[in-house]
Amino acid sequence: MGFVTYKQDGFVGVITIDRPKALNALNEEVLKDLESVIDGIDLKETRAVVLTGAGEKSFVAGADIGAMSKMTKEEGRVFGKFGNDIFLKLEALPIPTIAAVNGFALGGGNELAMSCDIRICSENAVFGQPEVGLGITPGFGGTQRLVRAIGTGKAKEMIYTGSNIKAEEAYRIGLVNAVYPQGDLMAAAMKLANKIASNAPIAVQNCKRAITEGYLSDMGHAAEVEEKWFGDCFETEDQQEGMAAFLEKRKVEGFKNR
Ligand code: CAA
Repeated sequence: MGFVTYKQDGFVGVITIDRPKALNALNEEVLKDLESVIDGIDLKETRAVVLTGAGEKSFVAGADIGAMSKMTKEEGRVFGKFGNDIFLKLEALPIPTIAAVNGFALGGGNELAMSCDIRICSENAVFGQPEVGLGITPGFGGTQRLVRAIGTGKAKEMIYTGSNIKAEEAYRIGLVNAVYPQGDLMAAAMKLANKIASNAPIAVQNCKRAITEGYLSDMGHAAEVEEKWFGDCFETEDQQEGMAAFLEKRKVEGFKNR
């Protein structure tokens, strides 16, 4: 795939946005390649995904400003929907996703990271929604996901000012779960992904479904959502093995995703 590579490493898939000349900025081709990679993930063999950017400077420096500079209102709306649909597809993957943010995560880059379940970053990472300085709003989910990720006050400040924040501030406000030296970031992401992949896959996926379906609804409905996905785990081979291993005081012999 031209601008997006995919590597299978055991149960973990690694997606890399690879357009270093433009700091991995997202134009139509990059977005199309990303969608093809997402569509091609073997969900039987893959239990977690790590998403990162090529190079040591940038995760993704946003949507491509050159491409957007001449768009009409209608073309802008269509481009927004194009990106939103792909990010929604990424967010809806049944397996957990981890953004390993290795540098600039600006505009569409921050929005891409927020479409993943978990974000970790390198010490040189920079986050922001600088769109208002370009005369536009965030357009690939930023006005919606940033509020959900860090709360309305801080999200509105970041979006209205267009000011960037550094890794430590992103950690302090809960936008990322951890900060690592650049050279340690991918190893940390793989360790986290492999830890997730070592658990019962159907249970992990049902956790993701329960959280996604329930967290923005009232507790009554949310509890029903949880009951559904909790019940769905029973009678699976992995539930039986996981509980048998505990009762027999032995280690699980490896979950089968069945
Ligand atoms: N679109 C297109 N090209 C970009 C780009 C982007 N978002 N970000 C960087 N590039 C290109 C630069 O034009 C430059 O190309 P040339 O070498 O051909 O001139 C190359 O990447 C390297 O960039 P810089 O020379 O600017 O590198 P720097 O280290 O001086 O600065 C930076 C790095 C601070 C990230 C700066 O490039 C920058 O501010 N980029 C734009 C960030 C931005 O505003 N992102 C939001 C875009 S809008 C959006 O994303 C809308 C949405 O929500 C969907």
